[in-house]
Amino acid sequence: MDIPKHIAIIMDGNGRWARKRNLPRLSGHREGVKRVEEIIRSANALGVAVLTLYAFSTENWARPATEIKGLFGLLKIFLRKKIKEFKKNNLRLRVIGDVTELPEDVVKEINSAVDITAGNTGMILNVALNYGGRQEIVNAVNKIIGTGIKDVKEETFKKYIYTAGLPDPELIIRTSGENRISNFLLWQSAYSEFYTTDILWPDFKKHDFLNAISEYQKRVKRFGGL
Ligand code: IPE
Ligand code: IPE
Ligand code: MG
Repeated sequence: MDIPKHIAIIMDGNGRWARKRNLPRLSGHREGVKRVEEIIRSANALGVAVLTLYAFSTENWARPATEIKGLFGLLKIFLRKKIKEFKKNNLRLRVIGDVTELPEDVVKEINSAVDITAGNTGMILNVALNYGGRQEIVNAVNKIIGTGIKDVKEETFKKYIYTAGLPDPELIIRTSGENRISNFLLWQSAYSEFYTTDILWPDFKKHDFLNAISEYQKRVKRFGGL
């Protein structure tokens, strides 16, 4: 069957999941991390080459400081806990976004996990952190200006975005019933199939992930042709 080489996920709905249970928002994020672990394993088992997870957007800085702190705390714990499994499963961690703006201890943890898994040849787990599609495009433009290149082609441009060297996502999944892109992979999503579901991220299980893929497999892709 046609398994997408690159699947990207906008993991949304953690806050609403918690509110429905009268729990603090962070409990929703904590439960969401469990689904992250599950979906990584499932994608890896299916032979997906790249799994991109939208974890923190450039707009998410607008949230209360306590929530932001909580999210980065969960990220640190996650990386520390999973590194052995990543090694064992030959999984390579990559990060897209402006990581330099994250708290120093978080940057350290990320860099260490990226370094430890750098030689792995299996699935690429690509985490979008302080990521914005517009930020990525502007950043690429500035890098290109720095090189002095005058005639920019699409093929040139692609080399300066965060996902340089990676295929574009064939499938983008968004949970929680929102039907928007929220500044995610603006360049790369030109021809992605978009799959949305009302399921909140903390409820999004392996079975739901497989459903999204089988839905994708039914789509007719024309790429502008007939
Ligand atoms: C997604 O869940 C996680 C992040 C954006 C970090 P939300 O926190 O956006 O959950 P809702 O949308 O408020 O339910
Ligand atoms: C998108 O979710 C960002 C991530 C999942 C990290 P948001 O909850 O931030 O998006 P909006 O605010 O509903 O557009
Ligand atoms: Mg949200």
